[in-house]
Amino acid sequence: MEQKCNVGLPINVGFIGAGNMAKAIGEGLTHSGMIKPSQLYISAPSDRNLETWKALGAHTSHNNGFVVEHSDIVFIAVKPHILDSAIENMKATLAQLVPTKLFVSVLAGTTLEVLEKKLSEVVTEARVIRVMPNTPMMVGAGVSVYSAGRRTTSEDLTMIGNILSVGGISEMVPESLINAVGAVTGSGPAFVYIMIEALSDGAVKMGLPRSMALQFSAQTVFGAAKMVLQTKSLGSTITGVHAMECGGVRSALMDAVEAAAKRSAELCPK
Ligand SMILES: NC(=O)c1ccc[n+]([C@@H]2O[C@H](COP(=O)([O-])OP(=O)(O)OC[C@H]3O[C@@H](n4cnc5c(N)ncnc54)[C@H](OP(=O)(O)O)[C@@H]3O)[C@@H](O)[C@H]2O)c1
Repeated sequence: MEQKCNVGLPINVGFIGAGNMAKAIGEGLTHSGMIKPSQLYISAPSDRNLETWKALGAHTSHNNGFVVEHSDIVFIAVKPHILDSAIENMKATLAQLVPTKLFVSVLAGTTLEVLEKKLSEVVTEARVIRVMPNTPMMVGAGVSVYSAGRRTTSEDLTMIGNILSVGGISEMVPESLINAVGAVTGSGPAFVYIMIEALSDGAVKMGLPRSMALQFSAQTVFGAAKMVLQTKSLGSTITGVHAMECGGVRSALMDAVEAAAKRSAELCPK
């Protein structure tokens, strides 16, 4: 293994999968100074996303085993239906079964039990943590929750708490709550983008230039969220709220969260 760095965390961090979620966590770690790019090991089948990582100074490979071998913590950041083939590739590109290792899965809907069982093909004693992150981690304003597997240690949990808090707030929750959290925090940004777009469309309809309308709408949502976080209460403008209630905005958002939670449960590989 390469000489580890003494600045920030003295560990190597790996990502199986180089897409959006790997970038949200990996870039947060490097921007915060907690990890140097040279402490990152990333794998994916194509160079599509790996080029960005290479340019950053991370170690890249098409072999998942390379990442497992060189990393102290391995994030699994592939789509849930890809898990089996990602593990197959790990197995094929590792010289031998690894005795123990911390794996952190961000896969929506995939349980700790399933992860521990599947990873036993490559690691004798897989320590597994399941995380539900969200993309605003890229700008330091994310929410991530995590649940402990059967073999995770208190050091593992402290470590993952520190890593995730670089991207925003993080909290440990029972696994039974993860799908519900993900429906709000994972899918929620997409629902809020629709609200920002709709606010902005309304402003354009009333005469504002598009760029100004978008900036003002986004800043308004950002400010409203900050107010709720600081005051712990929800304000309201009664006539506007009445129009929104008539339009079914509240029930549409509730339906969207429920549909996202049900979809996560359906995605779970057995
Ligand atoms: N995006 C979110 O907001 C969000 C929120 C919470 C949880 N999640 C979870 O995060 C996970 C990743 O989502 P994402 O949005 O980051 O997906 P993504 O952007 O599509 O990235 C998936 C990555 O997996 C790589 N990959 C495909 N097959 C592979 C294999 N056999 N071995 C190794 N890598 C492989 C892809 O390679 P190429 O680069 O070659 O295509 C790509 O780099 C999902 O399981 C999702 O449930 C996402």
